[in-house]
Amino acid sequence: MGLRRAKTDHNLMTSHVGRGNPWMTLLEFHRDPLSMLLQYGDLDQPVTPIRLGRWTLYLVTGEQETSYVLSHHVRHFKKGPGMDQRNPLIGNGLLLSETPRWEVARRLVKDEFVPSTVQTKAPLMRSAISQQLDTWPAGICNVAERLVDLTAAVVMTSLFEVQPDPVELRQIIINSQQLMLYFYRRSRSFFRPPYHMPWPANRTYWKAAVPLGQMADKLYSLRSGGRSEFLNRLEQLPSDERRAQIVTFLIAGHETTANALSWTLGLLAHHPVVQHKARSNALWREAAIKESLRLYPPVWLLSRSTVASIQLGDYLLPPGTSILVSPWVSHRLTRNFQRANEFLPERWFTDEKVSPSVYFPFGGGQRSCIGESFAMQEILLAIEQILFRFELAPATDLMAQPLPLLSLRPMNGMWIAVAPNVSGDFH
Ligand code: HEM
Repeated sequence: MGLRRAKTDHNLMTSHVGRGNPWMTLLEFHRDPLSMLLQYGDLDQPVTPIRLGRWTLYLVTGEQETSYVLSHHVRHFKKGPGMDQRNPLIGNGLLLSETPRWEVARRLVKDEFVPSTVQTKAPLMRSAISQQLDTWPAGICNVAERLVDLTAAVVMTSLFEVQPDPVELRQIIINSQQLMLYFYRRSRSFFRPPYHMPWPANRTYWKAAVPLGQMADKLYSLRSGGRSEFLNRLEQLPSDERRAQIVTFLIAGHETTANALSWTLGLLAHHPVVQHKARSNALWREAAIKESLRLYPPVWLLSRSTVASIQLGDYLLPPGTSILVSPWVSHRLTRNFQRANEFLPERWFTDEKVSPSVYFPFGGGQRSCIGESFAMQEILLAIEQILFRFELAPATDLMAQPLPLLSLRPMNGMWIAVAPNVSGDFH
């Protein structure tokens, strides 16, 4: 099959995927990106062009092609639209920066996130989780909100090694959420004014960014007498970059994990038999978490932009082409998982290895999540304590719907009836 050049591919207008008005497709993408991307993924092509208005994005779902995009980041790709390096607060942080700055920072902090170091943080994590669960009321509550407090407290105590004041913690969470909302809106907007331009949305940005920057400086200056190895490692960085790293880790470290926990609790509440098994068996807990990350991957979309001409599937893509790789889509394709839309933790009790280009809730390649072990340990410890203490039942018949902001949140919260676990079951 001959190569097709992205910019001159007139077939796009009439091909199956390009059918319809690209401006309508753009509207649809803004209205319901989850369903739309799944439909494109279902076309069973390794690389699928999607015309959105006057732009063309390439959705990558083929195993080889996904692996190529994730593992050739430095040479062929950079972070894509919406991942704004000009952002004054976190543009220099690990999530958004590129080589060489990114490489230096990743090397600097990576030892803090290897499994053996993360294991040493288990006692701190356990105690932060326990303190948070002490405040959970019995009855129907929005656990999504409570879990954001829990995961933010875990990052503060286990990574930065400070004991947060609850009021300060709430303020940090509110500012982080404002910032995330701003990024999300900016990533979808046609007009992206410079950050210092007096513009209503920019005012919202600075209102959240300034206190978060101050909080990062304060955390660094406190440093608990040098206890936090993570903060100590940042010593070598210039102050603006240090601030960017602290805020990046605070936000990336709590928002995603809170969503992962919310979805897992929602699924367990709606599947009492699995909940029962998970309460009495660690393997079931692990499988339920994996399955929840498959169905509701908190980072549902990874965006990239090509920095060189590359061939991907049948397409020869020029520099500057936008690429999407989506855990949400890949995890739900029936060619990748049987009964893909069902919650079946038992699918993980197999010796068959699932390809990391088919299941990748933590991304892959050079830019994969540095916090994966930290997050998995935290989620396991939290689920363990929650199931030990509580029985969970759904507050409504329907499972919460996913809201695809920067991370995949339960729309209108995750409402669950929480009751003390009186069964005495737990192993
Ligand atoms: C369930 C929880 C989490 C999920 C699903 C998740 C997912 C991801 C994914 C998919 C990426 C790659 C993004 C890309 O390729 O564009 C990423 C990157 C990152 N994550 Fe996580 N994450 C989680 C928890 C955490 C935690 C707990 C931390 C820190 C304590 C963290 C810190 C980061 C950072 C700093 C990056 C950027 C890494 C780099 O580019 O070198 N994440 N995460």
